[in-house]
Amino acid sequence: QANIPSEKGLDHSLSLLKDGYLFIHKRAQDFQSDIFKTRLMGEEAICLRGEDGAKVFYDNDKFKREGAAPKRVQKTLFGEDAIQSMDGEAHRHRKQLFMSLMSRERLQELNEITRAQWLLYIKKWETQKKIVLFDEMEAMLTKVACEWAGVPLEEKEVEKRTKDFGDMIDAFGAVGVRHARGRSARKRTEAWITSLIEEVRSEQRSPRESTALYQMAWHKELDGTLMDAKMAAIELINVIRPTVAVGRFITFGAVGLHEFPKEREKLMQDQDGTYSHLFTQEVRRYYPFAPFTGARVKKDFTWNSHQFKENTLVLLDIYGTNRHPKLWESPNEFRPERFKGWEGSPFSFIPQGGGDEHKGHRCAGEWITIELMKISLSQLAQNITYDVPKQDLTYDLSRMPSIPKSRFIIQNVRRQQQ
Ligand code: HEM
Repeated sequence: QANIPSEKGLDHSLSLLKDGYLFIHKRAQDFQSDIFKTRLMGEEAICLRGEDGAKVFYDNDKFKREGAAPKRVQKTLFGEDAIQSMDGEAHRHRKQLFMSLMSRERLQELNEITRAQWLLYIKKWETQKKIVLFDEMEAMLTKVACEWAGVPLEEKEVEKRTKDFGDMIDAFGAVGVRHARGRSARKRTEAWITSLIEEVRSEQRSPRESTALYQMAWHKELDGTLMDAKMAAIELINVIRPTVAVGRFITFGAVGLHEFPKEREKLMQDQDGTYSHLFTQEVRRYYPFAPFTGARVKKDFTWNSHQFKENTLVLLDIYGTNRHPKLWESPNEFRPERFKGWEGSPFSFIPQGGGDEHKGHRCAGEWITIELMKISLSQLAQNITYDVPKQDLTYDLSRMPSIPKSRFIIQNVRRQQQ
């Protein structure tokens, strides 16, 4: 693998934990190269950044996902041997299942469920002294996601289930306590959802056909057999957990409204959703969430005279591509208007992966994410007023996933007279 700049040293796993979101970006800047080699977790790894790197990374003939996600990530964030680790026909068949949940009607229903929850939460906040927005958003979205997916959730369970979904998300890039919490959260959640799948199969429970619970419970594998009950549970969790994770982007969006009052003004004036769309896109580009994604070389190939050897681990820089100086004007400035008439490609703006969501591993939930963010950020800007007391809103780029330290505290929430 000549020709590729190479970082010296035996292993850089610790630097990955220390540099976090900036691990690839920093080195790519130093090497003046969007491709370089390093060593991570005892093996050689190639890092890619930018549009061309993303294009090659999403070529299914060149890359596979089998063996790419470390077990520690599968045992917390993803679930073992689930969609993220599948390839070929089997992956496409599984992806169809996820994409079938994203119809216009189902998104409309999600919209209505979410608006109803916002009304209830605003009412509650009006009676409260101090609101930690991030915690509230995770709880609200746990309710929204469960209702939308057909998963029964009693009020007294909300806190516990919210914490478990939150802990699975928070375990990415963690060692020690946060990782251990993620593991036990996953065990509890899988046990809960597996029993629901079994209840559906034994017809003790009959969710609506359009719901994710029904679809996962009755999904057939390519060979015509029902998906293993635990796998069905893992995939249902792969719908609910990331929906809860949108709470992170909404919290960052609230930080954006606070940090950039001029943009807030524009969102307040927004009548038809145009500006809330631009604002949402810029939040997804600017604030840190998914740092990178990984795959392995399927078979030897040469790209731009760089040799890629079978099975080599390859990481694509998500954070750095979204701030690539060649792709974005003033990449480190928050400018929603850059997305007006935006003519980028599916490989240059990749907060939730790149390429085609049906054929490749690009996120199945991008439309859900955008919808939930637009509704929530418009609610914050247009339907309520609140104070933002002094607090520590900084976020640490070595913590993956990152979140503002204070988790965004608000006070004196009042409904706007419309
Ligand atoms: C995959 C990010 C929300 C479901 C992914 C990937 C990323 C990502 C980076 C991997 C792309 C790749 O490896 O090529 C995010 C972020 C979200 C979010 C930042 C914001 C909260 C959602 C939502 C859903 C969802 C709401 C709900 C259905 C999935 C699934 C996959 C995936 C099922 C696996 C796709 C596959 O392997 O084919 N997401 N996602 N995500 N996401 Fe999301």
